[in-house]
Amino acid sequence: MIKSPRGTRDLLPPDTALWNFVEATVRDVFRAYNFHEIRTPIFESTELFARGVGEDTDIVSKEMFTWEDRGRAESDRGQSLTLRPENTAGVVRAYIEHKLWDRGLNKLFYIGPQFRRERPQKGRYRQFYQIGAEVIGPTTAGSQSPARDAEILELLATLLDRVGIKNWTLELNSVGCPADRAKFNEALRQALAPVAAKMCADCQRRAVTNPLRVFDCKVPEDQPIIDTLPTIGQFLDEDCRAHHAEVKNILDAVQIPYTENPRLVRGLDYYTRTAFEFTHGGLGAQNAILGGGRYDGLSEALGGPAAPGIGFAIGEDRLVLSLAESTDSLQSPKSIARKPDVYIAPLGAGMNSEAARVARELRRHDLAADLVIELGDESFRLKKSFEAADKLGARYILIVGENEVKADAFALKHLASGEQVTVPRGELAQRISQK
Ligand code: HAM
Repeated sequence: MIKSPRGTRDLLPPDTALWNFVEATVRDVFRAYNFHEIRTPIFESTELFARGVGEDTDIVSKEMFTWEDRGRAESDRGQSLTLRPENTAGVVRAYIEHKLWDRGLNKLFYIGPQFRRERPQKGRYRQFYQIGAEVIGPTTAGSQSPARDAEILELLATLLDRVGIKNWTLELNSVGCPADRAKFNEALRQALAPVAAKMCADCQRRAVTNPLRVFDCKVPEDQPIIDTLPTIGQFLDEDCRAHHAEVKNILDAVQIPYTENPRLVRGLDYYTRTAFEFTHGGLGAQNAILGGGRYDGLSEALGGPAAPGIGFAIGEDRLVLSLAESTDSLQSPKSIARKPDVYIAPLGAGMNSEAARVARELRRHDLAADLVIELGDESFRLKKSFEAADKLGARYILIVGENEVKADAFALKHLASGEQVTVPRGELAQRISQK
């Protein structure tokens, strides 16, 4: 049997109803905050991620799906391509490519699949979905303001509330600017020198190449050592401190609770200043439901103009998992999926076309335009049609037989109450749309 590749999965009904509910809800929230959708390719040049996300990150050094794409013609050069492991680098590439600075402050969102070759487990997949947003623009548009950071965090609180995620925790930190980072890396290097030999192979490498990345380590035996390392907070300059204080000041004003986590550095190299994660108890080891932060130097690292930005990405798989596990029955996929309003049952030979006519008339009728209509088959006996309608949870069954067609009026039965009426063709739409 051919199965889906390791770490990938099929999303089936009725679960897809929950996914659609989540996406419809977040689209409403994005609209309310004046964000607009952007769609970028699901593969990009490998160089984009190497330069954007960083060579020493786990994502780039071991998790990317990369291939050499050979050219098909002289004009079509071969190049290394990669399935996107995240969408921020792609958005910033698009910002540069399309000179989006002309539009001032860009408030963009995206929903789509990302790919990382990770060890699959609950809440961690090789193809997963992110709902993300980026606020990016020239400094003159206010892109560097702590007001933007706070607005993003407040938007996230609204979004999680609307979707129905309860008991989230916002963990907040500042990772400073490149100069602070250099000082911090040096301090880490010194602190790690005497102990690195006792750590995992990855940490021994990180201790030399990019000590900050030691904080990404998940090896339990290394944690006591990591707990003794200095934290970035001691190395922040005046401006970074003031920025961080103002973000917290606004969060306090709008009463968004947060906890400071001085060890939160995030697994991607582009972050500057604000870094955050929202965690949720129900998720177990993979408890980060979303992550994000500021990336004031990313555009320049990719060859663009100065374009400070801040954004986040929600792991949609994890969001849906948390919802599915919440005891709130309102969020169960079954209760969200819509059931047929009417099951049209053709009764006897030649009645498929008559039933199709009735369905067509209903579907074109303004009143009935959003009814869910299920069409049966003339080969079914009446009993089988009733069973089918019941199984689908239809509200009404509508019988289309020879007698009904002659009379131009149809038997309509309300399945829950058993009440049956004969309805003239012209009144069907109105009758069925009544709840
Ligand atoms: P990230 O922390 O790498 O950040 O990913 C964001 C979220 O995606 C995670 O918190 C998690 O919920 C979900 N996620 C990541 N990997 C997997 C996986 N293998 N399976 C399931 N879910 C996963 C970013 O991607 C940044 N681009 C976020 C950002 C946007 N920063 C600024 N703007």
